[in-house]
Amino acid sequence: MADSKKRILTGDRPTGNLHLGHYVGSLANRVKLQKEYDSFILIADVQALTTHWEKDENLAENIFAIALDYLSVGIDPEISTILIQSMVPELFELTMYFSLYTSVNVLRHNPTIKSEAAQHGFKDMTYGFLGYPVSQAADIAIFKAHLVPVGEDQIPHLELARKIVRRFNDLYRPVLVEPDTLVGEVPRLVGLDGKTKMSKSLNNAIFLSDSSDTIKSKIRSAVTDPARIRKNDPGHPDICTIFQYQQIFNKNEISEIETNCRQGSIGCVDCKNRLFVQLEQLLAPMRERRSKFANNMPLVRDILFDGTSKARAVAEDTMREVREAMKINYFNQ
Ligand code: TRP
Repeated sequence: MADSKKRILTGDRPTGNLHLGHYVGSLANRVKLQKEYDSFILIADVQALTTHWEKDENLAENIFAIALDYLSVGIDPEISTILIQSMVPELFELTMYFSLYTSVNVLRHNPTIKSEAAQHGFKDMTYGFLGYPVSQAADIAIFKAHLVPVGEDQIPHLELARKIVRRFNDLYRPVLVEPDTLVGEVPRLVGLDGKTKMSKSLNNAIFLSDSSDTIKSKIRSAVTDPARIRKNDPGHPDICTIFQYQQIFNKNEISEIETNCRQGSIGCVDCKNRLFVQLEQLLAPMRERRSKFANNMPLVRDILFDGTSKARAVAEDTMREVREAMKINYFNQ
């Protein structure tokens, strides 16, 4: 059985399309590791509701959009399990048990919670929002994941998850697995504005679902080295956003581009075109896979349904052990 493999659990909130930052931060690792690990990918719709409880009209649409993103980057539904968080009710149960011994102050001081609360303008945090890292710990623990590939902003949540699992195993019985974190090759991809990280809400992202034309025009309008006015002016790659992308997506040409930029022998238009070619090489096969699945949405529905059913069976097994360890399995001891 696939059970001899170690397990990966990771996930995303379905709040919009995934972008290149997600790809280099986490998705690329998931694709790479899906043969080696038994991979579970969770669509965190409940977690999305912790910030969008009043305006959830797009939730179903977003769930299917993120599933298409997964399938388009090459998550193979034959070997990876994609599941929907709200449809595994055992997660709520484990979240509750974890919350019994998780300190409110620890959650209040979680840096990711703090910055998200500020971003959403929450003055008075709800119980559900403050507690979502506890539910995330349950996501990981219920599937006994060994490894969690995530972006850098998730590190505080993973540290908490490890503590919660360790505490559970100490308090009751060692039935849960302490997970390791795996951050991607590029933990924090800069946005097209060059100022902060790439993010949908900052409107500086290249989406995996962008068309070729959209990508071309996004790259064309990206800011480069502001001191470079004429093509032959010497450039400063160290302060150029496009150069940062070249370092990631165009490794083969990087030293040549750097030398030529510094000498003023390659212009920004030319340099941007070269980046565009590389991004197209990465994204064109994704577009092809996407359109195949997008033309067969009943199949995508089945993938989500089957993945969720399979995941639920695993969650039920773990919960049986959890109740036994906590001595709350009153009728079947
Ligand atoms: N917090 C993650 C995000 O915002 C989503 C998530 C939910 C997750 N549960 C998880 C990630 C479990 C890794 C493991 O993208």
